[in-house]
Amino acid sequence: MKRLGILLSGRGSNFEAIARNVAAGNIEAEIAVVISNRPEARGLETARQLGLNAVCLPSRGLDREVYDRQVVAELKKHCVDLVCLAGFMRLLSAYFVREFPNRILNIHPALLPSFPGLDAQHQALEHGVKISGCTVHFVDEYLDAGPIVLQAAVPVLDDDTVESLSARILEQEHRIYSQAVQLILSGKYRIEGRRVIRTR
Ligand code: GAR
Repeated sequence: MKRLGILLSGRGSNFEAIARNVAAGNIEAEIAVVISNRPEARGLETARQLGLNAVCLPSRGLDREVYDRQVVAELKKHCVDLVCLAGFMRLLSAYFVREFPNRILNIHPALLPSFPGLDAQHQALEHGVKISGCTVHFVDEYLDAGPIVLQAAVPVLDDDTVESLSARILEQEHRIYSQAVQLILSGKYRIEGRRVIRTR
């Protein structure tokens, strides 16, 4: 059985969606550990309630690579095969990425390469786009930049607020993140340059 490591910083709804799909058998893996850089993250509490290994590694005040060494050590301790960033609001160091080559996924609430970074839904509204969505991608050491695994689009409506648009996108995040995790675990893909191509 493949082993997932989940990294989060807050609410943890993407983690919950993954946990539901693991329980339902849609993702053939187990969640080996859930790690938060913020002690107050609601997702950490959810992980405890689900009886999962929930670990808090506070990042405040630590040098990026010093911190990442702690996280990598925890992931390796739990023999993690695939790392899922689920609202983990930190850039990973080159060291971290090297330790899990093409084994780290992230979900971003925009159609990358549009609107990387913070407050993507706000950026999309401000820019006036008519379509936005979400992206699951491999993580490299650059911000929201690695090869794209899956995307889903949603309309941006004239009366949308950041909240209403975020909610519409979040529904799709919960759907495609689990699909992407299962695809990568199945090994039925290859990476050609920036393209992730499905194979049989
Ligand atoms: C999600 O919308 C995720 O796409 C976003 O943070 C939210 C976390 O929600 N991530 C980023 O913006 C990364 N740049 P959750 O904690 O309920 O999963």
